Amino acid sequence: MKLFGRPDEESREFGVRAGRVRDIGVRTAMLQFTFVTALTLVSALALALVYGLGGWLAIGGQLAAGDVVVLALLLTRLYAPLTALSNARVEIMSALVSFERVFEILDLKPLIQQKPDAVAIPPGNVSVEFDDVRFAYPSADKVSLASLEEVSTLDTRGGEEVLHGISFRVEPGQTVALVGSSGAGKSTIAQLLSRLYDVDSGAVRLGGTLPGSGLDVRDATFDSLRDTLGMVTQDGHLFHESIASNLRLARPDATEEDMWDAIRQAAWKP
Ligand SMILES: Nc1ncnc2c1ncn2[C@@H]1O[C@H](COP(=O)(O)OP(=O)(O)OP(=O)(O)O)[C@@H](O)[C@H]1O
Ligand SMILES: [Mg+2]
Repeated sequence: MKLFGRPDEESREFGVRAGRVRDIGVRTAMLQFTFVTALTLVSALALALVYGLGGWLAIGGQLAAGDVVVLALLLTRLYAPLTALSNARVEIMSALVSFERVFEILDLKPLIQQKPDAVAIPPGNVSVEFDDVRFAYPSADKVSLASLEEVSTLDTRGGEEVLHGISFRVEPGQTVALVGSSGAGKSTIAQLLSRLYDVDSGAVRLGGTLPGSGLDVRDATFDSLRDTLGMVTQDGHLFHESIASNLRLARPDATEEDMWDAIRQAAWKP
């Protein structure tokens, strides 16, 4: 916000939202106070009645003094659970809302799922093949939940077609650069290769010596796909841990020497 200006507007926007939270907080507190005050009043009046009327009856001999004391004791015992009950509604309502949201997320089916009869990609270097691939990004309602976004309903419109019949083949050991203007679909091709999305038509295949003979990424197991493919994005992300544990994310069984090797390669300058 500082870089792109308009911090005042952002601050005002935040102020409006924070103001709503404050108002709701004040209303909740007021309601709770009303409840507690009413309950305290009722219990105090009841106690006064027990002592007053009970005491008068006890003096008249119609009631034992012990009974009056027991009645008063019972009343004080009753008070705590009654106060708890007045709060229970608020707690139950917030718990229900939390449950709803948690289950909504648990029930969300991932867009990309492994086939039950998926097979592993053979180890070693594999060829890469795009065969007449067409792809449009799925609509927002297929990949997310409205409650996770800042909108009440998600867009159901799919994106425009981004890749219009892409075909190419890369042999093992070959280095290929995709060049194109921003938004041409280069990153999209990388995402289809690692199966972050599925193609709409055509196929992405790995391995195989002849065109069309490779394994469709949709038929491969997730594990073998992750073992076979590595992806380095424009904006590298480091987790707040040691460099070693960041490196071990990709290969948990890497030795000390492997890691030094990776570090040297990353900082390699021609
Ligand atoms: N998650 C997404 N949802 C919808 N459309 C997207 C999404 N990501 C990219 N697009 C669209 O797909 C098209 C291709 O984007 P892509 O990121 O593949 O381009 P690129 O060639 O990698 O560009 P750049 O050189 O800027 O990295 C663009 O029109 C972009 O707006
Ligand atoms: Mg890109």
